[in-house]
Order: sequence, then structure tokens, then C-alpha cells
Amino acid sequence: MTISGKARLAGVMGWPIGHSRSPRLHGHWLERYGIDGAYVPLAVPPERAEQAIRALPALGFRGCNVTVPFKEIAFRTVDRLDATARRMGAVNTIVVHADGTLEGGNTDGFGFLENVKAGCRDWSAEQGPAVVIGAGGAARAVAVALLDAGAPEIHLVNRTRARAEELAANIGGPIAVVDWVSRETTLEGAALLVNTTTQGMTGHPPLDLDLRALPVAAVVNDIVYTPLDTPLLVAARSRGNRAVDGLGMLLHQARPGFQAWFGVEPEVTPDLARIVLEG
Ligand code: ATR
Repeated sequence: MTISGKARLAGVMGWPIGHSRSPRLHGHWLERYGIDGAYVPLAVPPERAEQAIRALPALGFRGCNVTVPFKEIAFRTVDRLDATARRMGAVNTIVVHADGTLEGGNTDGFGFLENVKAGCRDWSAEQGPAVVIGAGGAARAVAVALLDAGAPEIHLVNRTRARAEELAANIGGPIAVVDWVSRETTLEGAALLVNTTTQGMTGHPPLDLDLRALPVAAVVNDIVYTPLDTPLLVAARSRGNRAVDGLGMLLHQARPGFQAWFGVEPEVTPDLARIVLEG
């Protein structure tokens, strides 16, 4: 599709950015909905990130997504934060308002919840404790989303305990920090297990976790999506657990930004997996 001189502009800012699947995703939606717009990769060296974010209104951008390693810089740079971004301490979606001010939001937790709900229609966060593995930015988004959705308790497990403790103290609420050596026993009674670490990703070893103690009724979600079927999800499925892959989190987190910049609420359809992952 060609774009006119009036095209609406948005993009994704990161460093590096060449691996990002977001231009493909938004580009597909722009075409599908016949929108005169463009969503471009913005490769910005870290020392210029703040300058680049502040330049968005001058360049006529409607906004942009922000990815690694700029989610915290964006948090500090925007003029306003929505409540979710404030709670997550990070921004992944920037909207430029008509007056030229920048509002920062964070849709990672939304994307995570929508993905698990889409994968397991009868699942809800209130059903029981969740075990979250990892304590990075993704773990924070997942934990905040689960607590806000009514999870009664989160068992937070991280190889480096101190990071989990810091995260728990920062977020507040019913989060129990669990030692790495106890990661298997803490699965007992869980309604949801989420891996937010890089373990299981192509080129990384599988997550070292025996699922024996996990109830068969529990839902297992991996936020890794390369490959779609991680060793964790394969193991979960083989013992009868429902398993939800991580691609949907990427797809669903993109929806609010697309709507804000281009004016259409986009739909996550089954063909998106192929479109986003191919090439
Ligand atoms: P992000 O912000 O994208 O979530 P991150 O901050 O790099 O990424 O966090 C990666 C997570 O994977 C961390 O929880 C990390 O554990 P540490 O805090 O102990 O580093 C976890 N991780 C990485 N390699 C791991 C391994 N070999 N075993 C267990 N956990 C690992």
C-alpha cells in the first residue's frame, strides 16, 4: 500500500531494532484496515533516546512504541504517565496529544492478560495463586497485571533472590518471594505458571523446572515466543496442562497503541502468527 503526504506516523523505538516484529504487525493492520499511515522501525542510539522521544511531536508522529532498552528512559521523559505505566515503572507506548504533549502508557500487562484469556477462555486471575518465574521488566508487567486482575497471591521465583525481593517491595501486595531451590515445591496449588525469563528461547537452555508438583488444572504460559512451543510448554501439555504460547502477548500489547495512533481497534486474528513470525 502506498502512503500519501497526509499519512499518520508511528513506529517502534529501540536499540537494536532490526529484530522487532512490530513493524510487520502494525503494517499488516494498516493494510487490512486501509489506513493511510506508516509504522516504522526507529533505531536510536541510547545516548540520543531522550532527544528522539522529545522530537516526536516536531516530526509529526502520533506516537510510538518503546522497546528494550528505552522503557525506563521513556518513563522519565514523557510529560504524563497513565496509572499503569506509573505502577510498572516503564513505558512501552507513547501517545502525542494534539497540544504536543507526550503521554506514556504500558500495555505489556494488558497484552499478557489478554493472551492468557484468549488461550484459556475460562481462566481468570482470581482462580488461585500464580507462580511467576523471573524478576526483570517482563515479570514486573506480569505481576502487576495479575494483582490488578485479582490474583490472590503471587509466588515470585528468581535465580537471584534479591531482584525478586526488590520487585515485590516495589509493587506491594500479596507477593511471596520464593528461593530458586524451592521453585518446584512452590508449584503445588498454583492455578497459573508463567515463565518470564529468557530460558527456553532459541539459543538458550530450557527452563530448569520439573512440573511434577503443578496441578493438572493449572494453566502454563511462556512469554518466550521463539520458538512458539518452548520445552516448558511441551512438558506442560504432555502432562495435561493447558499451555499458552507467548506470541499473543506481543500481538495484544500492540492493540491500544494502534487504536490511539490510527483510530481503529485492531483485531488479533489467527493468521497474525504466520505474518509476524515469517522471514
Ligand atoms: P526482561 O526485563 O526482558 O524481563 P531481564 O531483566 O534480562 O529481562 O531478566 C531476565 C530474567 O531471566 C531474570 O529474571 C534472570 O534472572 P536473574 O535476575 O537471576 O539474572 C532470568 N534468567 C536469565 N538467565 C537465567 C538462568 N540461566 N536461569 C534462571 N534464570 C535466568
